[in-house]
Amino acid sequence: MNASKMTIDINEKPPIWKWIILALQHVFAMFGATILVPILVNGAAGSEVLTIPVALVTSGIGTLIYILCTKGKSPVYLGSSFAFITPLATGAVLAGIGGAMTGAMLVGLIYVIVALIIAIVGKEWLQKILPPIVIGPMIMIIGLGLASSAVSSIGIAAGTEAISIKGVIVALFTFLVTGLVMLKAKGFFKVVPFLIGIASGYILSCILGLVDFSPVLAAAFFSVPDFVIPFVSYTPTFAAALTIAPIALVTIAEHIGDHTALSTIIGKDLIKEPGLNRTLLGDGLATLTAALLGGPPNTTYGENTSVVGMTKVASVWVIGLAAIFAICLGFLGKFTALISTIPSPVLGGVSLLLYGFIAVNGLKVLIENRVDFSKSRNVIIASSMLVLGLGGAALTFGSVTVSGMSLAAVVGVLLNLLLPHEDEEKEETKTEEAKIEKEEEKDENKEEVENTLNILDHPLVEHKLSILRDKKTGTKEFRELVSELGMFLCYEAMRDASLDDVEIETPMTKLIAKRLDEDKYAFLPILRAGTGMLDGLINVIPNAKIGHIGMYRNEETLEPVRYFFKVPKDIKNREVLVLDPMLATGGSGCDAIEQLKKEGVTKIKFLCLIAAPEGVKRMQEEHPDVKIYTAALDEKLNENGYIVPGLGDAGDRIFGTK
Ligand code: PRP
Ligand code: URA
Repeated sequence: MNASKMTIDINEKPPIWKWIILALQHVFAMFGATILVPILVNGAAGSEVLTIPVALVTSGIGTLIYILCTKGKSPVYLGSSFAFITPLATGAVLAGIGGAMTGAMLVGLIYVIVALIIAIVGKEWLQKILPPIVIGPMIMIIGLGLASSAVSSIGIAAGTEAISIKGVIVALFTFLVTGLVMLKAKGFFKVVPFLIGIASGYILSCILGLVDFSPVLAAAFFSVPDFVIPFVSYTPTFAAALTIAPIALVTIAEHIGDHTALSTIIGKDLIKEPGLNRTLLGDGLATLTAALLGGPPNTTYGENTSVVGMTKVASVWVIGLAAIFAICLGFLGKFTALISTIPSPVLGGVSLLLYGFIAVNGLKVLIENRVDFSKSRNVIIASSMLVLGLGGAALTFGSVTVSGMSLAAVVGVLLNLLLPHEDEEKEETKTEEAKIEKEEEKDENKEEVENTLNILDHPLVEHKLSILRDKKTGTKEFRELVSELGMFLCYEAMRDASLDDVEIETPMTKLIAKRLDEDKYAFLPILRAGTGMLDGLINVIPNAKIGHIGMYRNEETLEPVRYFFKVPKDIKNREVLVLDPMLATGGSGCDAIEQLKKEGVTKIKFLCLIAAPEGVKRMQEEHPDVKIYTAALDEKLNENGYIVPGLGDAGDRIFGTK
């Protein structure tokens, strides 16, 4: 697994001030979603089902439970799940708060049961009953099912008697700010577009006089949230159980996706350690506890996973402190009263994007998994799910009703298991299966492919890189650093070198020592910038032979243009280290390696100072046998093909040509 370096790792506790600031960042990331869920559930149900203070406290408690269940090995915050907005609202309409909360408890129990089964028999069965053709339409239904509530929050639903122009302006403004943040924001701000949208819409609402502050004035500074407890506040009833509980299957599938994404971000396979059974158990017990206190189901979700990637902080200590902050916020009466004064057009403005965003994620599941809609069976499954999920269907068996989204989920799972494959589809299915087998084979090799990337992990390297990247660093120092880092990379690349036994005599005694046969190696700098690294490597292996390959990038197409190639005659018998400070699109590196392979070279390594994910991907695809050694894996390429943050044009900086 590609370890994208974390600045603070899972079990590291940061210094106190940093700890507080980082935890607050997580609170901001979870805040938008966590407060929106109670507001939207109440709006859709037409009565108070959930409260913001309880949602905040239960998300904090849930996160602490999750940390315990995962033995402090999975750094993510749990917030209120959007998937349950419609089911909880429908459940409350059908069977009151008691019905909604009993349904939420069952969701937690389903997670726990699935976690136990996975611990015993593995997770393959889950993928069989919940393939992309079931999950994609379900996620679309979750988003689209909420569309009408967004429209009425804005105040423009068909039949609205007097449309409030101020309300529409606020909704439009909130929508535009949220959209612009999504499009243009950088770093942490990119993770919290909905929160920024709500804050901006709220400020405009205050200016336009749409906010009623009387609940804030009336609220106490500190107040205990109104926990809703079974047998104290209500008698549990299963009347809405089938309307709410089946959605757990969908959120479990999302849970797997989220944890796979988080694993890639932190470079540790969470599906293996602490294991999917433990992460699911964490979500399940968190949801069960939340429901016992009157809160919505808790789950991991996109914003909280992304914030780990953006901040490169994976510390569970930070997540734990964020959870404690959320619990404390729930007890601040004035604060939660202030949140409750957010006018509905503000919520309408963010929801316009948010619900569509959820629906589009469902589409993405279908597209990314290449679900083939020329097959009738896929059309039947998706069509029936969409119509049942969005058409307001409900089936009642005695006192129990299964409605809308849950009915769609149950029908989708059953149709997928029961529908036969059509005759002409069988052949295709076989090829599909063969494809999947191949994909699985590829997946097995993937680990190997991923392992071709080696990132130097050393504080001194980071220190040197920071000087190298600095645009104030002059040519002389830049050149010396490129060479020095080249030497470090050479040490790393030679980690697997085989050594020969030689007999030597120390001033004390004779001994059989190990020596490198330097004649087995050649260096191949890519002109110009690669020559900057050469000195460093020659210092380490002075007898290696040296070839040169000349190419520059066409500024328009970014494709390499060759202009020189001269290599030692016996190059094919040598292991060749290709040198280039920058692996950007990967065009130059891949082309150089291709030319070497044409010369018969079989052992090749690629050494660079800074790599872009795009270049790494291209090299891993075109030359999966070539190990890449880099001092840093940067964020991305910009529109001109330069690495960001990068260091600028390496050749120009080494040779002072600009
Ligand atoms: C730079 C760099 C690499 C190439 C990387 O060379 O030294 O060779 O760009 O980009 P790529 O991965 O997108 O191919 P440049 O073309 O600027 O030539 P130079 O060494 O003469 O500066
Ligand atoms: N080449 C460079 O020199 N720098 C980059 O950022 C990309 C390609």
